[in-house]
Amino acid sequence: MDFLRLLHSWNRWLVLIVAIVALVYFALGLLQKRSWDKNAALLARVFPIIVNIQWLLGVLFLLQTWAQQGGVAPPIWGHALTMTIAGGIAGMTAMWRKRELPDDIRYRNHLLVVIVVLIVIFIGITLLPAFIQWRFYTGT
Ligand code: HEM
Repeated sequence: MDFLRLLHSWNRWLVLIVAIVALVYFALGLLQKRSWDKNAALLARVFPIIVNIQWLLGVLFLLQTWAQQGGVAPPIWGHALTMTIAGGIAGMTAMWRKRELPDDIRYRNHLLVVIVVLIVIFIGITLLPAFIQWRFYTGT
């Protein structure tokens, strides 16, 4: 059983679920011209945190793989780099936290960040070997 792989593989589903909830909430907030509420603020906080926990798990897993195998295959570097960009973009939401912004602009900005991060994550996953891209890893 590879514990770090298990965490990295399963936390990806959590990333996806939080991203979809955030995407829907921000889109509805924008379309229905809602005020920026507690749920929106919570999602805006949780989304970059969960993406960056995944990033950290990835870094630890990469270091473990390197230590065990003496190296890492080139496509995995592509995965790591692409996901680092995704983590950086997700973190951009922090710069709007304390700034005075109209609610619709706040919803629009956060929506755009979630969409771009999701696209970058999908690209990063396509760089992995095909059989591990969308599997439910069980340790066997
Ligand atoms: C949002 C960020 C990320 C997501 C969603 C993500 C997603 C995934 C997924 C779904 C897998 C396949 C897991 C499996 O074996 O079932 C994987 C593998 C892997 N990821 Fe990530 N990852 C992210 C970030 C990173 C980062 C930042 C690194 C390294 C710095 C990294 C390193 C790896 C490595 C080394 C593998 C194993 C590849 C292999 O065994 O061939 N990941 N990742």
